[in-house]
Amino acid sequence: MGRIWNFSAGPAALPEEVLLQAQAELLDWHGAGCSVMEMSHRGKEFMSILEQAEADLRELMGIPEQYKVLFLQGGATQQFAQIPMNLLAGRSADYIVTGSWSKKAVKEAQRFGSVRIAASTEESKFTRLPTAEEIRLDPFAAYLHVCTNETIHGVEIPAERIASTGVPLVADMSSHILSRPVPVEKFGMIYAGAQKNIGPSGLTLVIIHRDLLGMAPLTIPTVMDFAVMAENGSMLNTPPTYGIYMAGLVFQWLKRQGGLEGMAAVNAEKARILYDCIDGSGGFYSNPVDPDCRSRMNVPFVLANPEFDAAFLAESKAAGLVSLKGHKSVGGMRASIYNAVPLAGVQALVDFMYDFAKRKG
Ligand SMILES: Cc1ncc(COP(=O)(O)O)c(C=O)c1O
Repeated sequence: MGRIWNFSAGPAALPEEVLLQAQAELLDWHGAGCSVMEMSHRGKEFMSILEQAEADLRELMGIPEQYKVLFLQGGATQQFAQIPMNLLAGRSADYIVTGSWSKKAVKEAQRFGSVRIAASTEESKFTRLPTAEEIRLDPFAAYLHVCTNETIHGVEIPAERIASTGVPLVADMSSHILSRPVPVEKFGMIYAGAQKNIGPSGLTLVIIHRDLLGMAPLTIPTVMDFAVMAENGSMLNTPPTYGIYMAGLVFQWLKRQGGLEGMAAVNAEKARILYDCIDGSGGFYSNPVDPDCRSRMNVPFVLANPEFDAAFLAESKAAGLVSLKGHKSVGGMRASIYNAVPLAGVQALVDFMYDFAKRKG
């Protein structure tokens, strides 16, 4: 079997160029005589990989000097705990709930202290963003947490709606980081699990303003303290070395795509053709999300007649279009069209969807 068009929500497609490069370098990285997996994390070879990865990420995202970049483990789920452990400092934090992931972040944070829901769109089944009037902020909150792209519900906060509120803004960007330029300086902290737009699972990226370091109580585990991790350049203990190497290759690939501006233009076109197909299907397919906040990365949709679901999944799979089943909590279908899914892959999906609707509609 050749390579599939992979619409998995994560772990997800990686750029073929990156996989080929990793394959070519697997047994002997740049004359080191061994794989990156077999190197000491403190040796000069791996240190150069880590430094290059950080430098490329800083360049891609325009990360100002006063932010630290941390390469951690534990996934975004660990961050749901690590953030309140480090940043609450006996105060209360505000959370905006726009889907399952921000809801999970609230539930975890409640184990560590006081959490306020500044707004929630759960009553609208997470198909829209809260209006400015609906958001009730605590000016004394330790931080405000948002999930800028809800992977399950397909709701994304548009870049122009990101505003500073006077308290540090903390964002879960797991499922759309690196898909478009981001005004990093408006955030106190950005975090993401790697397995969508960064690289393989097992690596978690944290970008944190230095003002937020050093607030953790001494009772938290050392390995969970952002300040300690920052002081040790993510090397308090053994970091996820292979994941960092792969992320570094993805960053270099992104630079060759014209950086985040270049990637954003391709992503906009991919999302446009898919939403046009759904909206132009005369109701055969539908997406419930308010067009102002539809995700360009995760596109959930349902078939008007769910009796066709099984045939849709079986026939799409036979056509090489894989992992289109929606999350079990919402049903239907979902196409995750991350950076590494090329326009040709989305075009193949759209062609299949038009044809399927014509045959069954
Ligand atoms: C937006 C978002 N946040 C958090 C998570 C949880 O990530 P992890 O599995 O890395 O803990 C996911 C996983 O899909 C996600 O999409």
